[in-house]
Amino acid sequence: MNKENIYGSVAQLQCEPLDTVRVGFVGLGVRAKRAVMRMMHIDGCYISAICDLVPENIEETMNIIARHNGSEPTCYYNTDGWKKLCDSPDIDLVYICTDWASHADIAVYAMQQGKHVASEVPAATTIADCWRIVDTAEKQRRHFIMLENCCYDEFELCVLNMAQKGVLGEIIHAEGSYLHDLRDRIATNDEGGRKWSNWQVEFMSKHNGNPYPTHGLGPIALAMGINRSDRMKSIVSCSSKMVGDSSLRGNMNSSIITTEKGRTILIQHCITLPRPYSRAFAVSGTEGYAQKYPVQMFAFAPDSDNTIMGEECAELLEKYRHPFVAQYKERGTELCGRRWIDYAMDCRLIHCLRNGLPLDMNVYDAVLWSSLVELTDISARNSGAPVEIPDFTRGHIIESDTLIFS
Ligand SMILES: NC(=O)c1ccc[n+]([C@@H]2O[C@H](COP(=O)([O-])OP(=O)(O)OC[C@H]3O[C@@H](n4cnc5c(N)ncnc54)[C@H](O)[C@@H]3O)[C@@H](O)[C@H]2O)c1
Repeated sequence: MNKENIYGSVAQLQCEPLDTVRVGFVGLGVRAKRAVMRMMHIDGCYISAICDLVPENIEETMNIIARHNGSEPTCYYNTDGWKKLCDSPDIDLVYICTDWASHADIAVYAMQQGKHVASEVPAATTIADCWRIVDTAEKQRRHFIMLENCCYDEFELCVLNMAQKGVLGEIIHAEGSYLHDLRDRIATNDEGGRKWSNWQVEFMSKHNGNPYPTHGLGPIALAMGINRSDRMKSIVSCSSKMVGDSSLRGNMNSSIITTEKGRTILIQHCITLPRPYSRAFAVSGTEGYAQKYPVQMFAFAPDSDNTIMGEECAELLEKYRHPFVAQYKERGTELCGRRWIDYAMDCRLIHCLRNGLPLDMNVYDAVLWSSLVELTDISARNSGAPVEIPDFTRGHIIESDTLIFS
């Protein structure tokens, strides 16, 4: 146990149901504008306030809201605008879409003002900030969710369903990554029209590990019951040499996590080499195997060379389709195309808040997955030396893996 648990676990926190969830957005860049549009199509959700440092972003967001005949949010502009937004009594949920390094400060202050928090990935960039978020959520009894949208993708949800039903046997090893050729976008900072600083390159130029681990790790951690029936125990991490733009560190980071039960997870990150997009999602169990990239496939014991692809794979996906897909994919696709998973994620968040339910992912998931940002950096700087992973739950056990995403 890492620290004394003074206030009690919030792993399955249930709060007072909210008839209407009043949302305040902090950060109105590329990502947030899409979220504002989605939220306007979710019943029981009202956008009460918006905040950004760039006036043009506020203007564009107001235009999106006006196009949908939506709310009349209060606008906050200056460097302390986010604090005023958090202070407002007209907000239930602070939705953070700023740069990575500012998430924790905003989240902690928002919870201290009694607000629930949804934060973009990663939730925090240091272990100290991970603990601050946990401590505050426990003390304030507020929800904190990290908006890890990849957990809502169809294949990943299907594998979660299969894992919970035992179809893959015991999962012994899993892999996940963020491999995305962003060379042009990070050089120009024009990832869909960013208007603020090139914070991503600034952060990465001082970092030598995996700065963006949660898309790869989140869905695997859920399928393996991490923070439930097993824990991540230690990590080793290596970064390749850098080539090209010298402001970015190692081009490819590879990390291996070992769990308390002796299972392993491989996580990789690379955004500066020419290779096809992949989250490399793969799960290997005692009874079967599932992989999403580059082609979706399954294989089962005893004949693991008999790979199940194409139509047969589609049949399996249908057989083990997660209920969220039936619920949210069609409408989400109408609104957001391939980004329907974001709509599913937001719908679930609002549904749980309106019904006083625990959220799909809790604060311990958020900080554990985010803790890799600093842990991989420490290990990679020390030639891949093992680093212990904190148990942010302080030893609290959730008995059943099947509670996740139900
Ligand atoms: N889940 C996904 O698929 C996905 C995709 C893209 C981005 N993201 C995440 O979304 C977040 C934002 O990314 P983006 O691409 O929209 O970046 P962006 O630069 O376009 O937007 C960030 C905005 O935050 C504002 N901001 C920064 N500090 C602020 C403060 N103190 N007060 C008010 N506003 C402030 C900036 O002015 C800027 O407009 C990041 O965490 C990123 O990792 C997630």
